[in-house]
Amino acid sequence: MQTLRDLPALRTAVDALKSDGKPLALVPTMGALHDGHMALVEEARRHGRHVVVSIFVNPRQFGPNEDLDAYPRREAKDAQMLAAAGVDILWMPPVDVMYPVGYATNIGVSGVSEGLDGAARPGHFDGVSTVVAKLFNQVRPDVAIFGEKDYQQLAVIRRMVIDLNQGIDILGMPTQRAEDGLALSSRNAYLSEEERKAALALPRALGEAKRQIEKGDAVEGALAKAVATLAAHGFDPIDYVALCDAATLQPMAVLDRPARLLGAAKLGKTRLIDNIAVDPA
Ligand code: PAF
Repeated sequence: MQTLRDLPALRTAVDALKSDGKPLALVPTMGALHDGHMALVEEARRHGRHVVVSIFVNPRQFGPNEDLDAYPRREAKDAQMLAAAGVDILWMPPVDVMYPVGYATNIGVSGVSEGLDGAARPGHFDGVSTVVAKLFNQVRPDVAIFGEKDYQQLAVIRRMVIDLNQGIDILGMPTQRAEDGLALSSRNAYLSEEERKAALALPRALGEAKRQIEKGDAVEGALAKAVATLAAHGFDPIDYVALCDAATLQPMAVLDRPARLLGAAKLGKTRLIDNIAVDPA
């Protein structure tokens, strides 16, 4: 595996990989890799003859009071895991390579990026779409793989790729979970032992709301119960528990088409998100 940190070296290495005309798959990450990321890498190997993984903790997608400085960084361990998984290139640009002095371009995807995390974290999805567009231009993949844990992010990227005619296949991978059901996330590393136990209330509350809504209970009541469960387990603030159209992420009051139930809330200093499919009968 080549670990690269500058654009000329990346260009040369990508040109060499692409010279056989076989598909190249990209897995964009912010590092602190866990089994969820490694499942994305495995999926990338199924779709690409060549696999590039990027690690870049993107300052533009963190708000002023968020965890940019504290975000876990484990470059050496990440590199070992990726080399063992047969990755061809680890692309790890420093911040001044991604955003050189004078950098001035922003990509904003309206509509799908506006509610949910877009409302709770102003500017977050501009940061995500900007960096992902740049990663696509730098690596020039045929296919890119993202986790469904960040469901709204996946929807924003799908929209951007269509709107900008980027011609890249975007694949979403089901959320990888710990044995007890908690969605794997690099941020789980922040949780104390006690918080780790309480965190389970999030997937459980969403699971219970899904059951109620699918059996015909009123959406509003099911969402309110989920919020109450989270509050009882110490989540504060609860940014949202919402039932949304699975493609557009517009809020839904009645389950009349495929939907997604999404939740985001803070436990102590850690903000957790999760989501599950909700299907009409
Ligand atoms: O999901 C992530 O890890 C990040 O948001 C991404 C897609 C790598 C962009 O920085």
